Amino acid sequence: MDFKERYSDKDINNLIFERWSPRAFSGKPIDEQKLMNILEAARWAPSCFNDQPWRFIVAAAEKDRAVVIEALADTNKLWAKNAPVLVAVASRTSFSHNDKPNRWNGFDAGCAWGYLALEARRQGLYAHAMGGFDKLKLKELLELPDEYELYAVVAIGELASIDVLSEELRGREKPSERKPLENIVHFGKYQVK
Ligand SMILES: Cc1cc2nc3c(=O)[nH]c(=O)nc-3n(C[C@H](O)[C@H](O)[C@H](O)COP(=O)(O)O)c2cc1C
Repeated sequence: MDFKERYSDKDINNLIFERWSPRAFSGKPIDEQKLMNILEAARWAPSCFNDQPWRFIVAAAEKDRAVVIEALADTNKLWAKNAPVLVAVASRTSFSHNDKPNRWNGFDAGCAWGYLALEARRQGLYAHAMGGFDKLKLKELLELPDEYELYAVVAIGELASIDVLSEELRGREKPSERKPLENIVHFGKYQVK
């Protein structure tokens, strides 16, 4: 598929067009070096006060994956069980230097996930974020201290044939569209559009 033609006439990094969130994962284990490269990319995200509030709890071993899968919404379990790596993205809600609330922590963790997803694509893999999981249950299962918010679980792996998916999910297995730029960009001040 020519992603660039599909998405935009603007001149931007191709990797951005090539990233999308598939559900057909092959289950093939990820090369450890590739996984560390992907996490390294996330490490270099910018953050308020350079606090780097993100934490990545990686489930690659079978027993760890089973724990994360248990907390996923049923609709996500269906496909995410095939992803060889599941990464819970947590973030510290207060600054580490003074313990005051860090209201930018979610913004920063979101940026780190974006870096992770792009690097995954560059490594020949795909990353698919999920907000559909039982947050309290997963926090407990992962023994995450109270000062962390759990934002997402990210499935990472190689793309498989859509045959691994149910018929319903097969229909959704394609890159999605975006709102036009003029709908989301406001020059000067906010205008009702
Ligand atoms: C924070 C977040 C939560 C999401 N939660 C889910 C989810 O629970 N299940 C799912 O299948 N996809 C989930 N997605 C994937 C989005 O639906 C997807 O990113 C969006 O439709 C845009 O498609 P694309 O990533 O293929 O470009 C989530 C994405 C993000 C960033």
